Amino acid sequence: MKIKSANFVMSNSDVTKCPSEKLPEYAFIGRSNVGKSSLINMLMDRKHLAKTSGRPGKTQLINHFKVNENWFLVDLPGYGYARVSKKDKNTFQKYITNYFEQRKQLVCSFVLVDIRHEPQKIDMEFMEWMGENSIPFCIIFTKADKLKPKVIERQVDDYLQELIDGIWEEAPQHFVTSSSNGTGRDELLSFIQEINLQFFKEKKG
Ligand code: GTP
Ligand code: MG
Repeated sequence: MKIKSANFVMSNSDVTKCPSEKLPEYAFIGRSNVGKSSLINMLMDRKHLAKTSGRPGKTQLINHFKVNENWFLVDLPGYGYARVSKKDKNTFQKYITNYFEQRKQLVCSFVLVDIRHEPQKIDMEFMEWMGENSIPFCIIFTKADKLKPKVIERQVDDYLQELIDGIWEEAPQHFVTSSSNGTGRDELLSFIQEINLQFFKEKKG
């Protein structure tokens, strides 16, 4: 898919105030600093569309970006950032869970995990929660540029195997990406395009 336009639309913390248009929407979620905002910039081929930082906790709100005038990308705050106060953490969790539970336009979510790490409890719990609430998601392994190809393969296999050994009957669809060198861009954009086509076909019929 060619990206002809990508524009920031709005930020807020209330799912009921998100854009009302009935367009397919994709959300990026995961631990703080995992690379959600960077991945959005990589996909859109725009360096500063979403705000990124080396320090965790950069993205604070639900951020909508409109792409090619007919679908949305959503950048969300990360979870598991220890320096956020307990009160802030609870507020965060509430509006993010509200977003996932209530956003009808959300057609697929991407749970990002750092390819260098073993499965983390907080990610497992989040994916479990997504499963329990029937919210479809894929896993995106980020920062693949940090590992050699052979190690990437092993890390991904081990990670997915651990999911299958846990509660999952089969591993969710996954993508290996790097925002530094563009790995995974074509695959992800084709995947999104497929779902978009389906969405508009169903809408028509
Ligand atoms: P929060 O908004 O705080 O939740 O973080 P985030 O998940 O949006 O992460 P962000 O995109 O801001 O990136 C965090 C840090 O990781 C930045 O220093 C990025 O440059 C770095 N980073 C992100 N993606 C990659 C990648 O693919 N490769 C490498 N090497 N670094 C990356
Ligand atoms: Mg961010």
